[in-house]
Amino acid sequence: MTIAPDRRPLLPLEPARPRHARGKRSPVTCTLKCADACSHPVPNTSDNPHFREIASAALTRRAVLGLGAAGALGVAVTAATPAPAQAVAATGGSGGKGGARGANLLFDAIAPVDNLVDDVTVPAGYTWRPIIRWGDPLFRGVPPLDFENQSAEAQAGQFGYNCDYLDIIADPSGRTGVLAANHEYVNPGIMFAPSTDPAELDERAAIAKAAHGFSVVELERNGKREPWTYVVGARRNRRITADTMFEATGPAAGSDLLRTAQDPQGRWIKGTLGNCAGGTTPWGTVLSGEENFDGYFVWAADTPGQKRIRSSASTSSTYTFERIDPRFNARTPEFVNEPNRFGWIVEIDPQNPTSVPKKHTALGRFKHEGANVIVGEDGRAVAYMGDDQADDYLYKFVSKNRVSGSRRKNLELLSEGDLYVARFTGDSPASEITGTGALPADGSFDGSGEWIPLTKGGRSVVPGFSAAEVLVHTRLAADAVGATKLDRPEDVEPNPKTGKVYVALTNNTGRTVADEANPVVNNRYGHVLELTETAGQAGTRFAWNVLLLCGDPTNPDVSTYFAGFPKELVSPISCPDNLAFDSAGNLWISTDGAPGTIAIDDGLYKVPLKGKDRGHVQLFLQVPREAETCGPVVHDEDGLVFVAVQHPGENGSVAEPRSYFPDYADAHAPGVVAGPRPTVIQVFQERADRPGRSRRDRRGGDGDRRGGRDSRRGS
Ligand code: FEO
Ligand code: CA
Ligand code: CA
Repeated sequence: MTIAPDRRPLLPLEPARPRHARGKRSPVTCTLKCADACSHPVPNTSDNPHFREIASAALTRRAVLGLGAAGALGVAVTAATPAPAQAVAATGGSGGKGGARGANLLFDAIAPVDNLVDDVTVPAGYTWRPIIRWGDPLFRGVPPLDFENQSAEAQAGQFGYNCDYLDIIADPSGRTGVLAANHEYVNPGIMFAPSTDPAELDERAAIAKAAHGFSVVELERNGKREPWTYVVGARRNRRITADTMFEATGPAAGSDLLRTAQDPQGRWIKGTLGNCAGGTTPWGTVLSGEENFDGYFVWAADTPGQKRIRSSASTSSTYTFERIDPRFNARTPEFVNEPNRFGWIVEIDPQNPTSVPKKHTALGRFKHEGANVIVGEDGRAVAYMGDDQADDYLYKFVSKNRVSGSRRKNLELLSEGDLYVARFTGDSPASEITGTGALPADGSFDGSGEWIPLTKGGRSVVPGFSAAEVLVHTRLAADAVGATKLDRPEDVEPNPKTGKVYVALTNNTGRTVADEANPVVNNRYGHVLELTETAGQAGTRFAWNVLLLCGDPTNPDVSTYFAGFPKELVSPISCPDNLAFDSAGNLWISTDGAPGTIAIDDGLYKVPLKGKDRGHVQLFLQVPREAETCGPVVHDEDGLVFVAVQHPGENGSVAEPRSYFPDYADAHAPGVVAGPRPTVIQVFQERADRPGRSRRDRRGGDGDRRGGRDSRRGS
């Protein structure tokens, strides 16, 4: 069989359910990832304005105060010895601007490939190689993935499915380290052949539970600036699944709202689900957001708090965990509170495999995309967070205590502090915000903002809400204080070089009224905000501007904006999702939804933020067909870029795969799984002594990158 080179979602998947996709994602992603969120009414029915009146005609922008020493530490990655910058091409790039400089990583932006190419596309001079794939064993005695004989027991010792957050944390030697990745959700339609056998379906639900959560796995390599390999059975290797015990911390821990028949104390929560983006803290732990947790439950939707998460009740869940685990049926009295135990920021210590992971109630409960921490001028930890739903909000948490040299104390920083939600005000007349994306007369979508407190000192400051109610039903509390509705806040990251905060707003096709912070109605392509804290990192005032209005800059019917950079020189970009920074403070953006909006594969882009190149969006990499680019990690000082390739070939089936990534079944070894397999890959400059796995490399050209084999297995 040859995969047809067309753009239709070809194959039906089990179980039968309405297929729906508005704006960007494929119907499969919609169903599996966000429980068809866009086919339900938007849960934010508050009358919080989309547009706020102009507060002032002009803003004074103060430079962000210098970061504290701890803040400058950033991610606990050992800096490799810088090597001389080496251009892979002297000229070219998009528009002849020359190679893109990110400290020691030079490349010419790639020409976008359409959404049919089943390969990782990287710049000239670069190649890629997997580090770890779904089903690879983490422990001795655990079998490799046996596609036709999967079991929950094996999966619990293997790398899980669909990573979203990813970090590579090197040890001081630079020769060893750990890879930490979450496992957001699974794609049963390409993991399993169709079945109606009840026992088989029970086992599949158990496999799916075991494929969620986190993996920590040790890495090793020959030297700095070399690619990594993972180590089976290493001391720090760990799997966390939907059944691993977490401890709840913070003001809502122990409250009535968290108590169930299994946990009458409301302090011990089994499992983590729907982990999307995340961040590595300055003290070396990993945070991740429990995002689309509602899809895992048989849902009651009979209280305001439930309806604000999911507007309608249900009789089965997306993954049918309720077949084997009664806590996923929230319509039973014993487990009516079980959904309240998800939707939190979780913290995991990747250096200590026996540590108890935490769920931090002080950071609120919503569809958390992720959390990223920077240390403020006074030493307090400041975490920025998005609630990934159309018309939902941007949040910030400020710890009570300061980051210190005590690892034990740092591990308690996210248990106590103040939670805020953002309100944006534009500085241009409303009449100039037309909804088309056309710039107002002052030349910028920009304005001022304030962080409105929801809790202070562990107490509620929202009238009518207890602290536990604010933290469990955070969306309702934020509605009550007049937060600003945004176009699906995904990753929110402070730049460790400047303290400015970047907000990926992935899209909102339901937006009918524009405001200056969300200036496009029917926002299909998304945009990126840049926030400058004007009263210190932990303060309550900020200035903001739209950095990017995404889209295809060559499409005359779409208003795009790239921080004023000439749009004829930038790469097309759509649906910004995950963010990262390189050592020079350049922004890197990965996308989720480009195929459905601008008909190219999702990718990873570099965006300089200062100087004459500010806004010069340059495409570095694209993932294979029907995949999403996740977890970007840019170690430019080490000559390495890492991404998690999520849901490759998701529209296929076992009988008719639509991707063979990452192995392409050409090993011809018995038992090789042809693919697709979600995989963490590393990208590096190619050299004869370290070959990669791009099909271009192996076939000596671009030929037949759309084709595929007709079997899941090599022969
Ligand atoms: Fe899992 Fe907000 O994307
Ligand atoms: Ca303006
Ligand atoms: Ca995301």
